[in-house]
Amino acid sequence: MADKIELTINGQLVTADKGMTILEAALSKGMYIPHLCHHRELEPVGACRLCLVEIDGKWKKTVISCKTEAKEGMVVQTETPEISEIRQATVELLIADHDVDCLACGQNTRCALQRVADHVGLNKKRLQRLKPPEKKLPIDDSNPFFNFDPNQCVLCGICVRTCDELQNVQAIDYAYRGLGTKIAGFGDKLRIESSCESCGECIVRCPVGALTEKDSPKPTHQVKTVCSFCGCGCGLLLGVRDNRIVSAQGNVNSPANKGRLCVKGRFGYKFVNHPDRLTSPLIKRNGEFVKADWDEALDLVTDTFSKNKGEKFAAIASAKATNEDNYILQKFTRAVMGTNNIDHCARL
Ligand code: FES
Repeated sequence: MADKIELTINGQLVTADKGMTILEAALSKGMYIPHLCHHRELEPVGACRLCLVEIDGKWKKTVISCKTEAKEGMVVQTETPEISEIRQATVELLIADHDVDCLACGQNTRCALQRVADHVGLNKKRLQRLKPPEKKLPIDDSNPFFNFDPNQCVLCGICVRTCDELQNVQAIDYAYRGLGTKIAGFGDKLRIESSCESCGECIVRCPVGALTEKDSPKPTHQVKTVCSFCGCGCGLLLGVRDNRIVSAQGNVNSPANKGRLCVKGRFGYKFVNHPDRLTSPLIKRNGEFVKADWDEALDLVTDTFSKNKGEKFAAIASAKATNEDNYILQKFTRAVMGTNNIDHCARL
């Protein structure tokens, strides 16, 4: 128990790891405290102010739970009339400045703002009064894989911190001030002109529908597999609909990537169903590629190989192949083809 502490949240005794924040302690026991800017993999910033709680006893005060360490013997209330009032006003201000078109939003039913609003409850009359005059900001659809809709953005900064803390890219940040604040690349240029590497890590963490993948119908089920793009072995959950791959998600239980993916793993699945994909061998005849069967193609390969042994031959191995396949290729090149002309695409 040396690394554990006990505190009371809403009258319930909670055991938590030493160093956990109050929010983490509550969430670890399935107790919901409204929050928007918290993400378990990122440093807390306390931007949304929704996770307010009241601490009784010697610490008596109102604090944001995502930045306050849980201490032995603490007594915490997550719902008091005062906290509810502050939270409701905060949510109403957020929603007043949010494009509330939930049915058309890709994040509908998974949206953290919907959950907060549902929990807190809204005063519709006050919301109407708070609504600023319609101001539609342009959607940035310059990136080939995802769109950024600033009208849906709640400025939680999760995308900014993901890009900085997890990816070390720093392609985006807060720009401008006050009501004009928005998330933007350097010089408020389009995403495609920023240093964004299109890894999509910001999209998976966006709690609302501000960052959404292009052309991605919802999958009906997922299939667990390993990414085929390089030798890292990242765990993937491929989303399938009508027997076609429609999405790729990092598998958080995979030790190689712990849920993270690069641009290839996340967005490079469309080749599987692409109409240009080769599904049978092609042999060049009279300057034109024509379809052949596998026996014919393999006979041609073995025949050509046997006529080109020694220094005429070279092989390039692939990061897309397994270690075992790459080992066999170098063995084949040296022992069968009689040359050391073997290299690997990773050295390019
Ligand atoms: Fe604590 Fe946003 S979750 S301030």
